[in-house]
Amino acid sequence: MKIAEKIDDMRKLRRRLTEPVGFVPTMGYLHEGHLSLVRKARTENPSAVVSIFVNPMQFGPQEDFVSYPRNTQHDLALLDKAGTDLVFIPQADEVYPQPFSARVEIGKVTERLEGTARPGHFRGVTTVCAKLFNIIQPQRAYFGQKDAQQAIVIKKMVTDLNMNIEIVTLPTVREPDGLALSSRNTYLNPHERQAAVVLYQALSLAQQLYANGEKNAERLRQEIIGLIQQQPLANVDYVSIANAETLDELDTVKPPALVSLAVKIGRTRLIDNIVI
Ligand code: PAJ
Repeated sequence: MKIAEKIDDMRKLRRRLTEPVGFVPTMGYLHEGHLSLVRKARTENPSAVVSIFVNPMQFGPQEDFVSYPRNTQHDLALLDKAGTDLVFIPQADEVYPQPFSARVEIGKVTERLEGTARPGHFRGVTTVCAKLFNIIQPQRAYFGQKDAQQAIVIKKMVTDLNMNIEIVTLPTVREPDGLALSSRNTYLNPHERQAAVVLYQALSLAQQLYANGEKNAERLRQEIIGLIQQQPLANVDYVSIANAETLDELDTVKPPALVSLAVKIGRTRLIDNIVI
């Protein structure tokens, strides 16, 4: 496994890879969710490239950029074992040499849900992914359904800007009790960890009520909120039932519908979703 910290080195090493190249962008502190993407990239392409970069542009001023968990040596060992060919692990001034002023704006699908809760977040995600795509020039890039809106936003960027990359979205990897794997789960103390299962319980409740015939989206939202409110450590940020492509909120549930939520467990903000 080759490792590059500089863009020039990355381009040189990339040129030697057999195409098609599958690419997995990450912010590190890797878990089975990330590794499921890497393994898929590895099986679907002769070459797999992974980036590890905690992207300052996608964090708000009050968010956890500084405290975001990092463990590079462990990440590299996991990537090596998963069969990664090349890892890009740049410093911030390599990605954003000053003065840096470009921004990639995708519009409507970024202006709701996580976009409302985290202003500027998606501008940071799309700007860094556009740069990473330009540097790495993959034929395919792999994203997790865990961040459903991010995958939608990236697909829209690739379509609207004619980037010649296939975006592949893979299922959310979960703990045995249903909690979606996330680097941020490490912030949870043992009580909060137990409480955090409420996100998946709420999504499962919605799925079940829908299967039993409840098609009224507002009633489903209220059921979800009601269940989460029974958990004293949990605070609902938003609950959304939206068209899974446009992210328009629904009055009547019609598949494919994205049921997504953001919930604070103590001080940790978690997101999760299912498609019905
Ligand atoms: P990060 O949070 O590290 O996630 C990297 C990729 O792993 C994303 O596509 C995310 O959806 C996926 N992922 C995370 N948890 C997952 C899980 N439990 N199951 C399946 N996939 C999971 O998302 C980012 O980084 C950044 O925004 C990035 C795209 C790298 C741009 O900076």
